[in-house]
Amino acid sequence: MSVDIFEKCKTDAGYFGQFRKMGERDLTRPTMDPIPGKTMSYNGNEVVMWSVNNYIGLAENDEVKEVASEAAREFGTSAPMGSRMMSGNTQYHQDLEQRFADWAQKEAAYLFNYGYLGVLGIVSSLCGPKDTVVVDRLAHACILDAAAMAKASGATIRYFKHNNMKDLESVLKQVNEKREGGVMILIEGVYGMTGDLADLPGICALKEKYNARLFIDDAHGVGVMGEKGRGTGDFFGVQDKIDLYFGTFAKSFASIGGFVAADRDVVEWIMFNARTQVFAKSLPMVFVKALDRTLDFVIEGDDRRDLMWENSNKLKEGLRELGYYIGPGESPICSVFTPTGSDDVNGVGARMVKYLRTRNIFVTAVVYPVIPPGLCMFRMIPTTSHTDAEIQKTVEAFRDMKKEMNLMDSVTDEDILKINKVYRNIKG
Ligand SMILES: Cc1ncc(COP(=O)(O)O)c(C=O)c1O
Repeated sequence: MSVDIFEKCKTDAGYFGQFRKMGERDLTRPTMDPIPGKTMSYNGNEVVMWSVNNYIGLAENDEVKEVASEAAREFGTSAPMGSRMMSGNTQYHQDLEQRFADWAQKEAAYLFNYGYLGVLGIVSSLCGPKDTVVVDRLAHACILDAAAMAKASGATIRYFKHNNMKDLESVLKQVNEKREGGVMILIEGVYGMTGDLADLPGICALKEKYNARLFIDDAHGVGVMGEKGRGTGDFFGVQDKIDLYFGTFAKSFASIGGFVAADRDVVEWIMFNARTQVFAKSLPMVFVKALDRTLDFVIEGDDRRDLMWENSNKLKEGLRELGYYIGPGESPICSVFTPTGSDDVNGVGARMVKYLRTRNIFVTAVVYPVIPPGLCMFRMIPTTSHTDAEIQKTVEAFRDMKKEMNLMDSVTDEDILKINKVYRNIKG
């Protein structure tokens, strides 16, 4: 029987099928005014924005915008044309890579056009037949997809419970019993949804004990954590133990692209083997020039980071006082869990989002199956730019929401168990 490959498109199947089914594009694909910041225009209203990863406020930076405008005037959006190995390599790209390498305290660095593609390219270029990738279960989709690519070329994937050192050790031990190839551990530095930090001291100790390599995708830690914004490795004092340090520019750098920093021979290998970049046009000059200036602001950004933390703490404290449960709060990310009091999680989660939008507070809800049923999580990103008044307005809206929607008064022991399961003990 012949089946039309498009048959599935008439159904609600697919990864986000349930969201497609909801039909309300205002919740699942809101149409935004593009200018990012602490407040944004949405459906004609000014809303306080908590869903944009503009950690240290650089999306609003006029100097960077000016540099980008000048570069657009000088180079247009086409330059350079071609891939890095053909005609798309410039001294500007190479100089910027050296700046990133120096900042990350590694020998060399290499630019990618997207964080997502960078992770795919790096992992798939390094891991193949006989190798094993050992992946944190809660890692971002790009890490899971990178592992799947490595598997397609012959590597084995093993998962460990989120941030669970006992489980990681047990997996590494098993892998080493029959080991024929290399082993690479794949983790995030700051987990972007739940806001907790990788147990880097623990992971580094295990990777040395079991002779593995460590790749860290620090999308939410770069520019945010550590001295001069060097990231989560620096925060824990283990940057030298990280074999491949990766950051995207889509978050604190308020731009696009990403970089990997490592030993020179490893970076050179990636440069010639990471197919997601080798066979793609190089990063446009507008971004290379803008990122060069942005990196100054990130390096000199300790005051910005202090303010970001102040705002994060104020928001977390305000919501905690109302009885909301805010994960461990180890990073600026404020992950707010609310029990929904019913299994109709999407329904209650969606109603909460809508309620907050009527109060001009913009949040995005994360629901089952990403987190356990009966809970809704708002992943909120406090930034340097938010004001006390905006934080206050948000806390008041959460207070009224709880009352008006009859949300349970406080999180129960059972809810805490579920939340802890998210953080430490994801099953699978
Ligand atoms: C942990 C992590 N890695 C990678 C990415 C993808 O980065 P980019 O948007 O630069 O492709 C994201 C973006 O959501 C992320 O959160």
